[in-house]
Amino acid sequence: MAALASTTRTIARKWTPHALPLAAKATAAASVHQTRSISETHQTSSFDSPFKGAGAGTKIPSFAAYRNKSGGETGPRVFSYFMVGTMGALASLGAKNTVQDFLVNMSASADVLAQAKVEIDLSAIPEGKNVIIKWRGKPVFIRHRTDAEVQEAEDTKWESLRDPQSDSDRVKKPEWLIMLGVCTHLGCVPIGEAGDFGGWFCPCHGSHYDISGRIRKGPAPLNLEIPEYDFPEEGKVVIG
Ligand code: FES
Repeated sequence: MAALASTTRTIARKWTPHALPLAAKATAAASVHQTRSISETHQTSSFDSPFKGAGAGTKIPSFAAYRNKSGGETGPRVFSYFMVGTMGALASLGAKNTVQDFLVNMSASADVLAQAKVEIDLSAIPEGKNVIIKWRGKPVFIRHRTDAEVQEAEDTKWESLRDPQSDSDRVKKPEWLIMLGVCTHLGCVPIGEAGDFGGWFCPCHGSHYDISGRIRKGPAPLNLEIPEYDFPEEGKVVIG
């Protein structure tokens, strides 16, 4: 073992003085060669470095081949504006179509719209009678009032009522009273031709409505609601 270590030491001593200068010489030669080739190339370059401190060995490539040849920045800028404008218009169109499709899907379908309006033949309702029809899932009272009932409804001092409303504000034609048959207290259906005021009576909690559908007694806070309706021709009413 000692003999091996001694042999290694001897080889290293012999190698160092000869091998190290040779390696240094080779490195220096490579450096000189590299410097020469860079300086030679620099002399043939068509582009001077704009950077401070760029030595003779720095080579900046020329991008002249990629420059715009159409006369400054005008051409590319117009093209960029055109592209941005086109993309904006396409995006707006897409957004508009998306919103439109969404609204069309959310709107009522044709069968629902068909149920939205109900046409009733009034000639089938005799004077002094009630008819109840169904509209949008709710009962609607149609009362063909007599002259005496109309007179009574108009003579009532409505200003002092719980929900003050004149009879003329509740009807389009005095003889036809059309209103939702839903008690404004908790939603029961009142009974016609009943109660203390000759109109409607809600048996659930005892609300009394007069011949104009106005609340006169009981817990209901409001008059019976008047739906949208119209008389498109004589003897016909369209509700909704
Ligand atoms: S629901 Fe008609 S009085 Fe209560």
